[in-house]
Amino acid sequence: MKKLFFLSLLLSCVLQGAMGQTLKEAFGDKLLIGSCLTTPQLEEKNSPTLRVLNEQFNAVVAENSMKSMYLQPKEGKFRFKEADRFVNYANAQGLKVTGHVLIWHSQCCPWFFTDKQGRKVTPEVLKKRMKSHIFRVMRHFKGRVIGWDVVNEAIMEDGSYRKSGFYEILGEEYIPLAFQYAHEADPDAELYINDYNEWYPEKRKTVLKIINDIRRRGLRIDAVGLQGHIDMYSPTIEQYQATIDDYTKAGVKVMFTEMEISALPQPGDVLSANVSDKAAYKKELDPYTGGLPEKVQQQWNKRLEDIFRLILKNREHFKRVTFWGISDKYSWKNDYPVPGRTDYPLLFDRNFERKPVVDKIVKMAR
Ligand code: XIL
Repeated sequence: MKKLFFLSLLLSCVLQGAMGQTLKEAFGDKLLIGSCLTTPQLEEKNSPTLRVLNEQFNAVVAENSMKSMYLQPKEGKFRFKEADRFVNYANAQGLKVTGHVLIWHSQCCPWFFTDKQGRKVTPEVLKKRMKSHIFRVMRHFKGRVIGWDVVNEAIMEDGSYRKSGFYEILGEEYIPLAFQYAHEADPDAELYINDYNEWYPEKRKTVLKIINDIRRRGLRIDAVGLQGHIDMYSPTIEQYQATIDDYTKAGVKVMFTEMEISALPQPGDVLSANVSDKAAYKKELDPYTGGLPEKVQQQWNKRLEDIFRLILKNREHFKRVTFWGISDKYSWKNDYPVPGRTDYPLLFDRNFERKPVVDKIVKMAR
C-alpha cells in the first residue's frame, strides 16, 4: 500500500514536472527549438508572441525581413534597419539566430535578373549581383547569426531544377557558386540548403547530388533544411525517415526549419510551399471556422507526437527544429495556399495558450 502511494506520488511529480517544463528546458541540451518572428510581432506592445518566444524557445528566424526583396530592394541600396532590430533583439535575449535566406526565387527583387532596358542580364552580371548580395548581407550580420539558408526551394518534385531566374541564366552552377560566395563571405557561418517535399525520392536524389558536388569542390555545407510545411497525412513518417537516412548518409545534419501541421484539407494533390502556388477560397476547404472538432484535434495531436518521436529517434542527426510561428492566430497557413481560412497548425492556440499535447512532447523529450 505504502509502495503504491509513493509510486503514484512519484508519477504525479513526473507529470507535473513535464507540464511545467518549457520546450527549451526539455529540448535545450538535445537540439535547438525555434520559431520564426515577424516585424509587427516584434514591435507589438506587450507582444504575446515575444513572451512565448522567450519563455519556450531558444532559436529564432526572421519570417520575412531578411529576404532579398527587403534587404536590397534596389541594386546597391541595402536596407538593414528592420533586420537589425530583429537580430539585435534576438541576440540580446540569448536566442540563436539563423539567416533566412540568401538565394531564393520568391520574395526576390525583380531587378536581380534584368538590366535597365528590362533585358535578361548575362551570366557574368548575375554572378556579380549574387556575390555582392551574399557578401554584403553575410558580412553585415557576421558573428550575430549562426548560419544561413544559402539556397532555398531550388528543386522540383520530379528532381528537375526549378526554372528560376538564377537557373535560367546560370544553369545548375548557380547553387555551388552561391555556396562558394557564402563561404568566402563568412567562413565561420554554417551553410544550409533548404527545401520542401524532400520525401519525393527524385527530388531528394538531385539534392543529394548537389550536396556531394558542393563537398567535392571542397566547399562547406552543414545541413539540409526540411521546411516541414505538412498536413495530417503527407508525408508518412517512413518517408521522412528515408529522407533523414539518405541525407545523414551523405554526411550532413538535418533540421526542420519551417515546421507546421495544417489541420485543413489541401486544394490540390501535391502539397506545395511555393508561395505563388495559391488556390481560390471554397467553403469546403475551410471547415473549422468555429474551432477544431475534438476528433480532428486528437488526430492532429497524434501527428505531432509522431513527428516528435521521429525527431527524438534521430536526435543525433538533428541540429534544430523551428516552427513557422508560435500562435495559430498569426500562422501564414491561414492565408496559404487558400486565403482567408482558419487553420490550427502550431503549438500555441489563438490565445497564445500552449496546446495540451505539448505537455506530452515535453514528457517525451525527457
Ligand atoms: C512565407 C511567410 O511566412 C509569409 O509571411 C510570406 O508572405 C511568404 O513567405 N517557404 C519559405 C518561407 O522558405 O520563407 C515562406 O514564408 C514559406 C515557404
